[in-house]
Amino acid sequence: MTTTVENNASANSGRTPVDGPALWPAQAQAPQVVGRQLVIERGEGSYVVTRDGQRLFDGTAGLWHANIGHSRPELAQAAYDQMMQLETYHTFARFTNDKAEALSEKLAEVSPILDPKIILNSGGSDAIDVACKLARRHWQREGRPTKQVILSREFAYHGLHAYGTSIAGLEFNREGYGTESLVPETARISFNDPEQVRRTVEEIGPENIAAIVTEPVQGTGGVNPPTEGYLETIQELCRDNDILLILDEVITGFGRVGTMFASERYGLQPDLVTFAKGVTSGYAPLGGIFVSPRIWEPFYEDSPDTPIFRHGSTYAGHATAAAVAIKHLEILQDENLVERVREFEPAFDAALEDLAARNDDVVEVRYAGLLGGVTLRESVAVDKVCDRMIDKGFISRPLRGNTLQVSPPFIVTEQELNAFLAAMDEAIGEEAAS
Ligand SMILES: Cc1ncc(COP(=O)(O)O)c(C=O)c1O
Repeated sequence: MTTTVENNASANSGRTPVDGPALWPAQAQAPQVVGRQLVIERGEGSYVVTRDGQRLFDGTAGLWHANIGHSRPELAQAAYDQMMQLETYHTFARFTNDKAEALSEKLAEVSPILDPKIILNSGGSDAIDVACKLARRHWQREGRPTKQVILSREFAYHGLHAYGTSIAGLEFNREGYGTESLVPETARISFNDPEQVRRTVEEIGPENIAAIVTEPVQGTGGVNPPTEGYLETIQELCRDNDILLILDEVITGFGRVGTMFASERYGLQPDLVTFAKGVTSGYAPLGGIFVSPRIWEPFYEDSPDTPIFRHGSTYAGHATAAAVAIKHLEILQDENLVERVREFEPAFDAALEDLAARNDDVVEVRYAGLLGGVTLRESVAVDKVCDRMIDKGFISRPLRGNTLQVSPPFIVTEQELNAFLAAMDEAIGEEAAS
């Protein structure tokens, strides 16, 4: 079904808008995609199938979410069973529901933070909003209300809600909203130079800084694993200056870098950790944060003056989403999928290095776990390479810095990865020659 809004639009600009489906396309210039959208109708393991019947290898695991692969019946069953019992019940005031409670206990067992409390919500952008709010609230409660500024890295992506937009390190995601007033008092730090970060902290003044937010490995910013000493310096700066460390593990959480959380891989002790995608592999919209005792304890003191953290939403702790997450965590553990990522990593790295060695248009490859980025010469447009790959039956995605995303589901085989990278190699060559 298509709609035409010609009359309204001519009144606006005199130009005729393209016709298109009612669904507004996300993160795209509408006329660039309307009429050539890939409508995904089915999934199976590491593959998806379009409405036109084209079978595509999902080399990105969707938006880095489909870690265990698509369309597992056990998860459909978990959702069905839960809905037959209770779709959900909210978690405000005295109320809670058994699945939100059970999931939180399970999450506490695998948490990158010792003895955490867990706040649940619906996705990564939600999780970032709540982490930043809680960081500011923490310092207010501590009687240090000047500590408001949230620092984030150049090229960072933390979702697109109000905080995520304001702390975005990809400038195009911040522009056009009067961002400084959307969430005031945020600033960027260098994405790779620890000494520059030190200087920025000094300039702004630790007495004004609430938190530093960072992805352990930047995703949308181009797959940037941390440079030597970078995360360690940030952690030290946070400790020495009473600044909270918020790790955004929305991509890295639940195994993507070969440990349950990247905190473990990089030896970090954050105050708050955000998660989403990998907690359900996308089978239900769910996200949340792990909160360290330093932050939650004052909100649990047995006193009439104990403060309330005013945050929540109807679907925070959604029972069906929680039931799906519980089943999903069981699958992750029973099938040793995190270990699988760790074992696969050397072959993954070697395959990417091999692509760089044989293709002159590849200028750099970067990787950690099953998270890879392939950066091309400026003259070869990555979006065009992705289009060519689709024609060959493989999905990649353009990231910042003329980079191609490589992040297949954890169940990928070596043969599938090699076929994917061979198609990428070929598509780069064709695009370079065109
Ligand atoms: C590091 C990071 N944080 C936050 C988000 C936002 O998550 P969501 O899209 O679930 O809101 C994303 C999404 O890609 C992400 O990569």
